[in-house]
Amino acid sequence: MHVVNYPFARGRAGYGARVITVIAAVMLVAVTMQAQDIKQAPGGKKISPDLFGLFFEDINYAADGGLYAEMVQNRSFEYSPSDRQEWHPFSCWQYITPGYSYGSVNVETNAPVHPNNPHYVVLNIEHVGDSVAGGVGLRNRGFSGMPVKAGEQYNFSVFAKSVSRAPLTIAVSLQNNKGKVLAQRNISITNGEWKQYTASLVPAEDNDSASLVILATTKGRLALDMVSLFPEKTFKNRPNGLRADLAQLLADIHPKFIRFPGGCLSHGDGLGNMYRWKNTIGPVEQRVEQKNLWGYHQTAGLGYFEYFRFCEDIGAKPLPVLPAAVSCQNSGGTWRIGGTGQQALDMGQMPDYVQEVLDLIEWANGPATSAWGAKRAAAGHPAPFNLEYVGIGNEDKITPEFEQRFRMIYEAVKAKYPNITVIGTVGPFPSGEDFTKGWSLAAALDVPVVDEHYYSQPEWFISNQYRYDAYKRNATKVYVGEYASWGNKVKNAMAEAAYMTALERNGDVVAMASYAPLLAKKGFTQWNPDMIYFSNTRACPTVNYYVQQLFSTNQGDTYFENVLVKDPADSVLAGSCVQDSKTGDLILKVVNAGPTAKSVKIKLARFKKIKRDATCTILTGDADAANTFEQPKAVIPVQLDFKAEKEFAYAASPMSLTVIRIKTK
Ligand code: AHR
Repeated sequence: MHVVNYPFARGRAGYGARVITVIAAVMLVAVTMQAQDIKQAPGGKKISPDLFGLFFEDINYAADGGLYAEMVQNRSFEYSPSDRQEWHPFSCWQYITPGYSYGSVNVETNAPVHPNNPHYVVLNIEHVGDSVAGGVGLRNRGFSGMPVKAGEQYNFSVFAKSVSRAPLTIAVSLQNNKGKVLAQRNISITNGEWKQYTASLVPAEDNDSASLVILATTKGRLALDMVSLFPEKTFKNRPNGLRADLAQLLADIHPKFIRFPGGCLSHGDGLGNMYRWKNTIGPVEQRVEQKNLWGYHQTAGLGYFEYFRFCEDIGAKPLPVLPAAVSCQNSGGTWRIGGTGQQALDMGQMPDYVQEVLDLIEWANGPATSAWGAKRAAAGHPAPFNLEYVGIGNEDKITPEFEQRFRMIYEAVKAKYPNITVIGTVGPFPSGEDFTKGWSLAAALDVPVVDEHYYSQPEWFISNQYRYDAYKRNATKVYVGEYASWGNKVKNAMAEAAYMTALERNGDVVAMASYAPLLAKKGFTQWNPDMIYFSNTRACPTVNYYVQQLFSTNQGDTYFENVLVKDPADSVLAGSCVQDSKTGDLILKVVNAGPTAKSVKIKLARFKKIKRDATCTILTGDADAANTFEQPKAVIPVQLDFKAEKEFAYAASPMSLTVIRIKTK
């Protein structure tokens, strides 16, 4: 039997019985709660120590143009009509010939920097006019303008070669949208072979819509590729790093894990679009770029190494999700016609594919002397990443092709790496054919955890709070990998909060949970609602973000029943009590997702010692209130001092989440 790596006893069980018993169980739970309210449960139960984490997917420009701090758009001239019909290798670039200069520009593919990165640009500089402002070159405005700050450093780099074999000079500048130069450096391109050149630019003034200009000021032919500009101040100053403000917002959640890179992005739009982790490691100029099925382009600059490094930087466990050798059932836009576009790798390709999955584990955890561990070490990380979880598949259609391939991958991982917890998948919905088939497969194979997904109205979350009370305790565990109520208003966030207390109550069955989607760029969203909205210069965490943050920063590893006593029939009033064994702190959460104030009794007599000086954090607002770019702090948590007693009544305001943290030592 597979043993999961947190203290749960488990065995095998089918899901079928669960479905049948759900309604009866809900009624039973209500009755039991009433009875339990009278007699206190003697002790606590162990719950998952990794309950609340994050799910990152490159949707809504979350990676390129978002969290990934690269400021140049289409830096490697790899945009193509397969990304978006109107895109091509020269998209986002402007050919410029200021100061009465002339020449020409071509996109070429004969002798690229690397075969994985086939397109590059060749400038033919025939005449440089004005000796001060003249030149033949390129302008890139980034992702709708590059925001720069006076006095801060921006690191420019480019792969270049002098095709005409004579040294050429390029002037690299940051300019405002009137052409005023904010910072400039000259670079001499001396080599006839590809070579990376770098320069740092320090603008003299702030500008939110700057552009990067490269002007060749010597006659000749010049090839350019991988034109890059990063702020020096990325998150933790990492090279090829992350946008500091967005990464910090994620770090501030203190997630126990991060699932990446998707979502539908993982299994891709057709087999050729599956996210293959090996394409996303190593030098950025050698990574394989591809279309993003959400309607744009993936540079893979934010690749597996960067995901793992970010997890480590913020103390979150990495949870990579690999395709189960089948593509998304919506491949080729088949969701429109309700058909299945799922494609499966040929069985002849499966041995290599299974090896690819095993190689990831060696890359993450193997010694630096192993074949794949050496690649991690070469990227600057000789120590292992301590990978514990691997997701196989993302809400796939549970077809015979899927089952066959999932089984092969799962068995191989289990045999070679028995300590890795494999997370399976049970379709896109909280019930239905794929859900049932997925659960049956998990039971048959004794899969330790499966990934459930649901997006619904706030009322669904309120009325489904007892969903997991009815699940078998010693069977496959649940990862709620994607969930959200449809909206960013206080009433949505409070429905999620109420539901999250139920996830804590069921933390012996629910191993992990993550809200989805995480990030969305204003004006570039394919999916709403999301947890954090951002522009090039600002971020707007939603009320849902603060709910996630309050739960995540107040996790425990033991759950106590019957500490909060309330009318069990009142479904908009919910609560939980957990203890964090490291600090000894007791953490009470009270959610009132209704329109009137409610009182709840708190009984702490079972705990020998509690300290009177406690803290109380409250998140509350009108049901329809929300955070916006105009009012980003309309609804944020407020922390107050609180005096705890062994027994007290707490009055929860309408539409509120309260977290009371009490010291026991
Ligand atoms: O979170 C957005 C999408 O929702 C994910 O890509 C997919 O898994 C789900 O359908």
